[in-house]
Amino acid sequence: MQLGIIGGTVVLGARTVPDCSIAIDNGIIQDIGPKKRIAKDYKFDDEIDARDRIVIPGLVDTHMHSYQVATKGQTCDSELLKWLRSYIFPWEGHLSRKRARACAELSYIEMAKSGTTCFSDFTSTRFTDEAFSVAEKIGLRANIGRTMMDYNAPKDMLEDTVSDIEDSRALIMRWHGRCNGRLRFMVTPRFDVTCSDELLVEAFALAKEYNLVFQTHAQENLGEVAFERKRFGVPAIKHLNKLGLLGSNVLLAHCVWLDRKDFTLLAKNNVKVAHCPGSNMYLASGIAPVPEMLKNKISVGLGSDVGAYGNYSMFEQMRLAVLLQKVHTLRPHAMDHHTVFSMATSGGAACVGLSKEIGEIRVGRKADLTLLDKRSLAFSPLHDVIAQVVYSAGKVCVSDVIVDGKVIVRDRQLTTINEEKTIRRASKALVS
Ligand code: GUN
Ligand code: FE
Repeated sequence: MQLGIIGGTVVLGARTVPDCSIAIDNGIIQDIGPKKRIAKDYKFDDEIDARDRIVIPGLVDTHMHSYQVATKGQTCDSELLKWLRSYIFPWEGHLSRKRARACAELSYIEMAKSGTTCFSDFTSTRFTDEAFSVAEKIGLRANIGRTMMDYNAPKDMLEDTVSDIEDSRALIMRWHGRCNGRLRFMVTPRFDVTCSDELLVEAFALAKEYNLVFQTHAQENLGEVAFERKRFGVPAIKHLNKLGLLGSNVLLAHCVWLDRKDFTLLAKNNVKVAHCPGSNMYLASGIAPVPEMLKNKISVGLGSDVGAYGNYSMFEQMRLAVLLQKVHTLRPHAMDHHTVFSMATSGGAACVGLSKEIGEIRVGRKADLTLLDKRSLAFSPLHDVIAQVVYSAGKVCVSDVIVDGKVIVRDRQLTTINEEKTIRRASKALVS
Protein backbone atom coordinates (compact mmCIF):
# COMPACT_ATOMS: atom_id res chain seq x y z
CA MET A 1 0.00 0.00 0.00
CA GLN A 2 1.54 3.30 -1.12
CA LEU A 3 0.27 6.56 0.36
CA GLY A 4 1.32 9.99 -0.88
CA ILE A 5 1.02 13.24 1.03
CA ILE A 6 1.16 15.78 -1.71
CA GLY A 7 2.56 19.29 -1.56
CA GLY A 8 2.31 20.23 2.12
CA THR A 9 4.26 22.48 4.44
CA VAL A 10 6.34 19.81 6.15
CA VAL A 11 8.24 20.12 9.44
CA LEU A 12 11.59 18.36 9.03
CA GLY A 13 13.51 18.72 12.29
CA ALA A 14 13.92 22.47 12.87
CA ARG A 15 13.20 23.27 9.18
CA THR A 16 9.81 23.88 7.58
CA VAL A 17 9.70 23.01 3.89
CA PRO A 18 6.91 24.23 1.56
CA ASP A 19 5.52 22.28 -1.44
CA CYS A 20 6.92 19.12 -0.03
CA SER A 21 5.57 15.61 -0.65
CA ILE A 22 6.00 12.44 1.38
CA ALA A 23 5.94 8.95 -0.10
CA ILE A 24 4.89 6.21 2.32
CA ASP A 25 5.25 2.53 1.56
CA ASN A 26 3.78 -0.10 3.86
CA GLY A 27 3.79 2.24 6.84
CA ILE A 28 7.37 3.50 6.37
CA ILE A 29 8.43 6.92 5.06
CA GLN A 30 10.14 6.03 1.81
CA ASP A 31 10.91 9.45 0.33
CA ILE A 32 10.53 13.14 1.09
CA GLY A 33 11.00 15.76 -1.59
CA PRO A 34 9.70 18.49 -3.89
CA LYS A 35 6.16 17.92 -5.08
CA LYS A 36 7.19 17.73 -8.75
CA ARG A 37 9.86 15.09 -8.27
CA ILE A 38 7.75 12.86 -6.02
CA ALA A 39 4.86 13.07 -8.52
CA LYS A 40 7.25 11.92 -11.26
CA ASP A 41 8.83 9.09 -9.24
CA TYR A 42 5.81 7.47 -7.54
CA LYS A 43 2.37 6.19 -8.27
CA PHE A 44 0.26 6.05 -5.13
CA ASP A 45 -2.72 3.87 -4.18
CA ASP A 46 -4.05 6.74 -2.09
CA GLU A 47 -3.19 10.45 -1.82
CA ILE A 48 -3.84 13.32 0.55
CA ASP A 49 -3.83 16.72 -1.07
CA ALA A 50 -1.80 18.68 1.49
CA ARG A 51 -1.64 22.08 -0.20
CA ASP A 52 -3.56 23.57 2.77
CA ARG A 53 -1.84 21.40 5.35
CA ILE A 54 1.04 21.65 7.78
CA VAL A 55 2.56 18.21 8.37
CA ILE A 56 4.17 17.55 11.76
CA PRO A 57 5.38 14.35 13.42
CA GLY A 58 2.52 12.67 15.30
CA LEU A 59 2.32 13.90 18.89
CA VAL A 60 3.24 11.53 21.73
CA ASP A 61 1.37 11.48 25.04
CA THR A 62 3.85 9.77 27.36
CA HIS A 63 1.61 9.49 30.41
CA MET A 64 -2.14 9.12 30.79
CA HIS A 65 -4.76 6.92 32.45
CA SER A 66 -7.60 6.19 30.04
CA TYR A 67 -9.74 4.50 32.69
CA GLN A 68 -9.79 7.74 34.69
CA VAL A 69 -11.34 9.77 31.87
CA ALA A 70 -14.83 9.26 33.30
CA THR A 71 -13.93 11.22 36.44
CA LYS A 72 -13.57 14.48 34.53
CA GLY A 73 -15.56 17.36 35.94
CA GLN A 74 -15.78 15.69 39.35
CA THR A 75 -12.32 15.97 40.88
CA CYS A 76 -11.36 19.60 40.49
CA ASP A 77 -9.97 20.66 43.87
CA SER A 78 -7.76 18.07 45.60
CA GLU A 79 -4.10 17.29 46.00
CA LEU A 80 -2.68 13.93 44.89
CA LEU A 81 -3.13 11.60 47.87
CA LYS A 82 -6.62 12.86 48.73
CA TRP A 83 -7.57 12.83 45.02
CA LEU A 84 -6.47 9.20 44.72
CA ARG A 85 -8.24 8.11 47.90
CA SER A 86 -11.45 10.10 47.41
CA TYR A 87 -12.04 9.74 43.69
CA ILE A 88 -9.61 7.65 41.69
CA PHE A 89 -9.28 4.47 43.75
CA PRO A 90 -13.07 4.21 44.35
CA TRP A 91 -13.71 4.69 40.61
CA GLU A 92 -11.01 2.27 39.44
CA GLY A 93 -12.02 -0.22 42.16
CA HIS A 94 -15.58 -0.41 40.84
CA LEU A 95 -14.86 -0.50 37.13
CA SER A 96 -16.71 -3.02 35.01
CA ARG A 97 -15.44 -4.43 31.73
CA LYS A 98 -18.04 -2.41 29.85
CA ARG A 99 -17.05 0.84 31.54
CA ALA A 100 -13.35 0.18 31.04
CA ARG A 101 -14.00 -0.26 27.33
CA ALA A 102 -16.10 2.91 27.20
CA CYS A 103 -13.27 4.86 28.89
CA ALA A 104 -10.72 3.54 26.39
CA GLU A 105 -13.02 4.43 23.49
CA LEU A 106 -13.59 8.02 24.64
CA SER A 107 -9.90 8.48 25.45
CA TYR A 108 -8.49 7.08 22.23
CA ILE A 109 -11.03 8.89 20.04
CA GLU A 110 -10.12 12.18 21.72
CA MET A 111 -6.39 11.54 21.37
CA ALA A 112 -6.66 10.58 17.70
CA LYS A 113 -8.71 13.67 16.91
CA SER A 114 -6.22 15.83 18.84
CA GLY A 115 -3.29 14.72 16.68
CA THR A 116 -1.79 12.31 19.21
CA THR A 117 -0.55 9.25 17.33
CA CYS A 118 1.21 7.41 20.16
CA PHE A 119 0.32 7.15 23.82
CA SER A 120 1.41 5.46 27.01
CA ASP A 121 -1.54 4.37 29.17
CA PHE A 122 -1.61 3.09 32.76
CA THR A 123 -5.19 1.64 32.51
CA SER A 124 -5.90 0.05 35.93
CA THR A 125 -5.53 -3.20 37.83
CA ARG A 126 -8.19 -4.94 35.69
CA PHE A 127 -9.66 -5.09 32.17
CA THR A 128 -6.45 -4.07 30.40
CA ASP A 129 -7.48 -6.30 27.45
CA GLU A 130 -10.22 -3.78 26.66
CA ALA A 131 -7.71 -0.96 26.16
CA PHE A 132 -5.65 -3.13 23.80
CA SER A 133 -8.72 -4.17 21.87
CA VAL A 134 -9.87 -0.55 21.42
CA ALA A 135 -6.37 0.59 20.40
CA GLU A 136 -6.23 -2.26 17.89
CA LYS A 137 -9.52 -1.09 16.38
CA ILE A 138 -8.97 2.69 16.38
CA GLY A 139 -5.45 2.39 15.02
CA LEU A 140 -3.26 4.41 17.41
CA ARG A 141 0.28 3.39 18.38
CA ALA A 142 -0.20 2.13 21.91
CA ASN A 143 1.93 1.43 24.94
CA ILE A 144 -0.43 -0.04 27.46
CA GLY A 145 0.21 -1.10 31.04
CA ARG A 146 -1.69 -2.86 33.76
CA THR A 147 -1.45 -0.82 36.96
CA MET A 148 0.12 -2.91 39.73
CA MET A 149 -0.56 -2.42 43.46
CA ASP A 150 0.09 -4.99 46.18
CA TYR A 151 0.51 -2.77 49.25
CA ASN A 152 -1.36 0.04 51.03
CA ALA A 153 -4.20 0.04 48.47
CA PRO A 154 -7.96 -0.12 49.06
CA LYS A 155 -9.36 -3.64 49.45
CA ASP A 156 -10.96 -3.85 46.02
CA MET A 157 -7.75 -2.83 44.27
CA LEU A 158 -5.19 -4.69 46.35
CA GLU A 159 -3.58 -7.55 44.45
CA ASP A 160 -0.99 -10.08 45.41
CA THR A 161 2.47 -9.83 43.98
CA VAL A 162 2.29 -13.08 42.05
CA SER A 163 -1.00 -12.28 40.29
CA ASP A 164 0.24 -8.79 39.38
CA ILE A 165 3.22 -10.32 37.60
CA GLU A 166 1.45 -13.34 36.12
CA ASP A 167 -1.45 -11.26 34.76
CA SER A 168 1.03 -8.89 33.17
CA ARG A 169 2.88 -11.82 31.63
CA ALA A 170 -0.37 -13.15 30.18
CA LEU A 171 -1.13 -9.72 28.69
CA ILE A 172 2.34 -9.68 27.10
CA MET A 173 1.56 -13.04 25.49
CA ARG A 174 -1.81 -11.87 24.21
CA TRP A 175 -0.93 -8.40 22.96
CA HIS A 176 2.71 -7.34 22.90
CA GLY A 177 3.95 -6.75 19.36
CA ARG A 178 0.57 -7.24 17.70
CA CYS A 179 -0.54 -5.16 14.68
CA ASN A 180 2.93 -4.93 13.14
CA GLY A 181 4.39 -3.85 16.51
CA ARG A 182 1.88 -1.02 16.90
CA LEU A 183 0.59 -2.44 20.20
CA ARG A 184 3.11 -2.82 23.00
CA PHE A 185 2.86 -3.82 26.61
CA MET A 186 4.43 -1.60 29.25
CA VAL A 187 5.16 -2.61 32.87
CA THR A 188 3.42 -0.16 35.21
CA PRO A 189 3.68 -0.52 38.98
CA ARG A 190 1.58 2.45 40.19
CA PHE A 191 4.10 4.05 42.59
CA ASP A 192 6.20 2.93 45.51
CA VAL A 193 3.52 4.19 47.93
CA THR A 194 1.28 1.27 46.85
CA CYS A 195 3.87 -1.32 45.84
CA SER A 196 6.06 -3.71 47.83
CA ASP A 197 9.78 -3.77 47.04
CA GLU A 198 9.33 -7.34 45.88
CA LEU A 199 6.73 -6.26 43.32
CA LEU A 200 8.94 -3.44 42.01
CA VAL A 201 11.89 -5.79 41.64
CA GLU A 202 9.88 -8.50 39.90
CA ALA A 203 8.14 -5.99 37.65
CA PHE A 204 11.51 -4.61 36.58
CA ALA A 205 12.78 -8.13 35.87
CA LEU A 206 9.68 -8.76 33.73
CA ALA A 207 10.35 -5.56 31.76
CA LYS A 208 13.97 -6.65 31.21
CA GLU A 209 12.92 -10.15 30.16
CA TYR A 210 10.73 -8.82 27.34
CA ASN A 211 12.61 -5.58 26.62
CA LEU A 212 9.71 -3.37 27.72
CA VAL A 213 9.33 0.14 29.12
CA PHE A 214 8.99 0.21 32.92
CA GLN A 215 6.92 3.19 33.95
CA THR A 216 5.95 4.43 37.40
CA HIS A 217 5.08 7.71 39.17
CA ALA A 218 7.87 9.43 41.12
CA GLN A 219 8.26 12.49 43.33
CA GLU A 220 5.11 14.17 42.11
CA ASN A 221 3.79 15.59 45.36
CA LEU A 222 5.20 16.61 48.75
CA GLY A 223 2.77 14.38 50.69
CA GLU A 224 3.93 11.42 48.60
CA VAL A 225 7.59 12.30 49.20
CA ALA A 226 6.97 12.59 52.97
CA PHE A 227 5.35 9.12 52.95
CA GLU A 228 8.35 7.68 51.10
CA ARG A 229 10.83 9.29 53.48
CA LYS A 230 8.99 7.72 56.40
CA ARG A 231 8.74 4.28 54.79
CA PHE A 232 12.11 4.02 53.03
CA GLY A 233 14.16 6.88 54.48
CA VAL A 234 14.41 8.43 51.00
CA PRO A 235 12.04 9.51 48.17
CA ALA A 236 11.25 7.35 45.12
CA ILE A 237 14.25 7.89 42.84
CA LYS A 238 16.82 7.07 45.52
CA HIS A 239 14.68 4.16 46.63
CA LEU A 240 14.45 2.77 43.09
CA ASN A 241 18.20 3.26 42.76
CA LYS A 242 18.85 1.28 45.95
CA LEU A 243 16.78 -1.55 44.50
CA GLY A 244 18.78 -1.38 41.24
CA LEU A 245 15.73 -0.27 39.25
CA LEU A 246 16.99 2.72 37.28
CA GLY A 247 17.89 2.20 33.64
CA SER A 248 17.35 3.37 30.08
CA ASN A 249 13.99 1.58 29.80
CA VAL A 250 12.65 3.41 32.88
CA LEU A 251 10.12 6.21 32.43
CA LEU A 252 9.23 8.22 35.52
CA ALA A 253 6.10 10.35 35.50
CA HIS A 254 6.31 13.83 37.08
CA CYS A 255 9.67 14.18 38.92
CA VAL A 256 8.56 17.53 40.38
CA TRP A 257 10.51 17.44 43.64
CA LEU A 258 14.13 16.66 42.78
CA ASP A 259 17.42 17.38 44.49
CA ARG A 260 20.95 17.47 43.00
CA LYS A 261 21.49 13.76 43.59
CA ASP A 262 18.26 12.92 41.77
CA PHE A 263 19.40 14.78 38.62
CA THR A 264 22.67 12.84 38.72
CA LEU A 265 20.89 9.51 39.18
CA LEU A 266 18.45 10.17 36.34
CA ALA A 267 21.18 11.35 33.95
CA LYS A 268 23.68 8.62 34.84
CA ASN A 269 21.11 5.87 34.31
CA ASN A 270 19.56 7.42 31.18
CA VAL A 271 16.12 7.44 32.85
CA LYS A 272 13.34 9.24 30.93
CA VAL A 273 10.85 11.70 32.43
CA ALA A 274 7.17 12.21 31.52
CA HIS A 275 6.53 15.87 32.33
CA CYS A 276 2.84 16.57 32.98
CA PRO A 277 2.48 20.33 33.49
CA GLY A 278 -1.34 20.37 33.33
CA SER A 279 -1.60 17.70 36.00
CA ASN A 280 1.04 19.37 38.16
CA MET A 281 -1.13 22.49 38.16
CA TYR A 282 -4.46 20.67 38.44
CA LEU A 283 -3.38 18.73 41.55
CA ALA A 284 -1.36 21.67 42.94
CA SER A 285 1.70 19.40 42.89
CA GLY A 286 4.34 21.98 41.97
CA ILE A 287 6.56 22.97 39.07
CA ALA A 288 8.90 20.35 37.64
CA PRO A 289 12.48 21.62 37.11
CA VAL A 290 12.44 20.83 33.38
CA PRO A 291 15.16 23.26 32.22
CA GLU A 292 17.53 21.67 34.75
CA MET A 293 16.57 18.19 33.53
CA LEU A 294 17.38 19.24 29.96
CA LYS A 295 20.63 20.85 31.08
CA ASN A 296 21.51 17.46 32.61
CA LYS A 297 20.73 15.79 29.25
CA ILE A 298 17.76 13.89 30.63
CA SER A 299 15.18 12.88 27.96
CA VAL A 300 11.85 14.54 28.71
CA GLY A 301 8.47 13.89 27.09
CA LEU A 302 5.05 15.39 27.78
CA GLY A 303 2.00 13.75 29.28
CA SER A 304 -1.61 14.84 29.66
CA ASP A 305 -2.01 12.60 32.76
CA VAL A 306 -5.80 12.50 32.27
CA GLY A 307 -7.73 12.05 34.71
CA ALA A 308 -5.47 14.54 36.55
CA TYR A 309 -6.28 16.93 33.71
CA GLY A 310 -9.45 17.71 31.77
CA ASN A 311 -8.55 16.80 28.18
CA TYR A 312 -6.02 15.01 26.00
CA SER A 313 -4.77 17.88 23.83
CA MET A 314 -0.98 17.82 23.62
CA PHE A 315 -1.17 21.35 22.21
CA GLU A 316 -2.31 22.44 25.67
CA GLN A 317 0.47 20.51 27.39
CA MET A 318 3.10 22.10 25.10
CA ARG A 319 1.72 25.55 25.86
CA LEU A 320 1.45 24.95 29.60
CA ALA A 321 4.98 23.52 29.72
CA VAL A 322 6.57 26.53 28.05
CA LEU A 323 4.50 29.20 29.83
CA LEU A 324 4.94 27.67 33.26
CA GLN A 325 8.73 27.92 33.04
CA LYS A 326 8.58 31.55 31.88
CA VAL A 327 6.43 32.63 34.81
CA HIS A 328 8.31 30.44 37.29
CA THR A 329 11.80 31.61 36.37
CA LEU A 330 10.86 35.12 35.15
CA ARG A 331 13.10 34.30 32.20
CA PRO A 332 11.37 34.50 28.80
CA HIS A 333 13.90 32.06 27.31
CA ALA A 334 13.65 29.49 30.11
CA MET A 335 12.46 26.92 27.56
CA ASP A 336 11.80 27.86 23.94
CA HIS A 337 9.07 26.59 21.59
CA HIS A 338 11.46 24.33 19.65
CA THR A 339 12.40 22.59 22.87
CA VAL A 340 8.83 22.04 23.92
CA PHE A 341 7.81 20.85 20.42
CA SER A 342 10.67 18.31 20.56
CA MET A 343 9.42 17.13 23.93
CA ALA A 344 5.99 16.37 22.40
CA THR A 345 7.54 14.51 19.45
CA SER A 346 11.12 13.11 19.53
CA GLY A 347 11.39 13.40 23.34
CA GLY A 348 8.16 11.46 23.69
CA ALA A 349 9.43 8.83 21.27
CA ALA A 350 12.56 8.37 23.43
CA CYS A 351 10.38 8.00 26.55
CA VAL A 352 8.50 5.04 25.06
CA GLY A 353 11.62 3.42 23.60
CA LEU A 354 10.83 4.35 19.99
CA SER A 355 13.37 7.06 19.22
CA LYS A 356 14.56 5.25 16.10
CA GLU A 357 11.04 4.51 14.84
CA ILE A 358 8.94 7.67 15.34
CA GLY A 359 9.17 11.28 16.56
CA GLU A 360 10.58 12.86 13.39
CA ILE A 361 9.62 13.00 9.72
CA ARG A 362 12.55 11.19 8.12
CA VAL A 363 13.11 8.54 5.51
CA GLY A 364 13.05 5.11 7.16
CA ARG A 365 10.87 6.18 10.11
CA LYS A 366 7.36 4.89 10.65
CA ALA A 367 4.74 7.13 9.07
CA ASP A 368 3.03 8.57 12.18
CA LEU A 369 1.98 12.05 11.06
CA THR A 370 -0.41 14.79 12.11
CA LEU A 371 -1.77 17.19 9.52
CA LEU A 372 -2.97 20.64 10.55
CA ASP A 373 -5.24 22.90 8.56
CA LYS A 374 -3.16 25.85 7.42
CA ARG A 375 -6.34 27.88 6.97
CA SER A 376 -7.09 27.71 10.74
CA LEU A 377 -7.01 31.04 12.53
CA ALA A 378 -3.99 29.74 14.48
CA PHE A 379 -1.95 29.91 11.27
CA SER A 380 -3.44 33.09 9.79
CA PRO A 381 -1.14 34.82 9.08
CA LEU A 382 1.62 32.22 9.05
CA HIS A 383 5.02 33.43 10.25
CA ASP A 384 6.66 30.62 12.20
CA VAL A 385 5.11 27.15 12.07
CA ILE A 386 6.58 25.71 15.29
CA ALA A 387 5.98 28.88 17.32
CA GLN A 388 2.37 28.95 16.14
CA VAL A 389 1.87 25.22 16.79
CA VAL A 390 3.04 25.82 20.37
CA TYR A 391 1.45 29.19 21.13
CA SER A 392 -1.61 29.38 18.86
CA ALA A 393 -2.80 25.96 17.71
CA GLY A 394 -5.23 23.54 19.32
CA LYS A 395 -6.90 20.27 18.51
CA VAL A 396 -9.40 22.15 16.30
CA CYS A 397 -6.56 22.58 13.78
CA VAL A 398 -6.09 18.81 13.34
CA SER A 399 -7.49 17.66 9.98
CA ASP A 400 -5.88 14.26 9.30
CA VAL A 401 -3.93 11.73 11.31
CA ILE A 402 -1.78 8.91 9.98
CA VAL A 403 -0.43 6.04 12.08
CA ASP A 404 1.80 3.31 10.64
CA GLY A 405 0.98 4.65 7.17
CA LYS A 406 -2.76 4.30 7.67
CA VAL A 407 -5.06 7.35 7.59
CA ILE A 408 -7.06 6.97 10.81
CA VAL A 409 -8.52 10.51 10.77
CA ARG A 410 -9.45 11.98 7.40
CA ASP A 411 -11.01 15.42 7.06
CA ARG A 412 -11.59 15.46 10.84
CA GLN A 413 -13.47 12.13 10.94
CA LEU A 414 -12.18 8.82 12.24
CA THR A 415 -12.04 6.28 9.43
CA THR A 416 -11.70 3.20 11.61
CA ILE A 417 -14.91 3.35 13.67
CA ASN A 418 -18.28 5.06 13.69
CA GLU A 419 -17.25 7.95 15.86
CA GLU A 420 -20.61 9.46 16.78
CA LYS A 421 -22.25 6.16 17.58
CA THR A 422 -19.28 5.07 19.70
CA ILE A 423 -19.15 8.33 21.68
CA ARG A 424 -22.88 8.18 22.35
CA ARG A 425 -22.79 4.55 23.52
CA ALA A 426 -19.65 5.03 25.62
CA SER A 427 -20.93 8.18 27.37
CA LYS A 428 -24.15 6.39 28.18
CA ALA A 429 -22.27 3.43 29.67
CA LEU A 430 -20.40 5.83 31.96
CA VAL A 431 -23.37 7.72 33.41
CA SER A 432 -25.86 4.86 33.82
N1 GUN B 1 0.40 8.54 41.57
C1 GUN B 1 -0.08 7.30 41.78
N2 GUN B 1 -1.16 7.04 41.04
C2 GUN B 1 -1.39 8.14 40.33
C3 GUN B 1 -2.38 8.49 39.36
O1 GUN B 1 -3.28 7.72 39.02
N3 GUN B 1 -2.28 9.74 38.82
C4 GUN B 1 -1.29 10.60 39.18
N4 GUN B 1 -1.26 11.81 38.62
N5 GUN B 1 -0.36 10.31 40.09
C5 GUN B 1 -0.41 9.09 40.65
FE1 FE C 1 -0.44 9.65 36.32
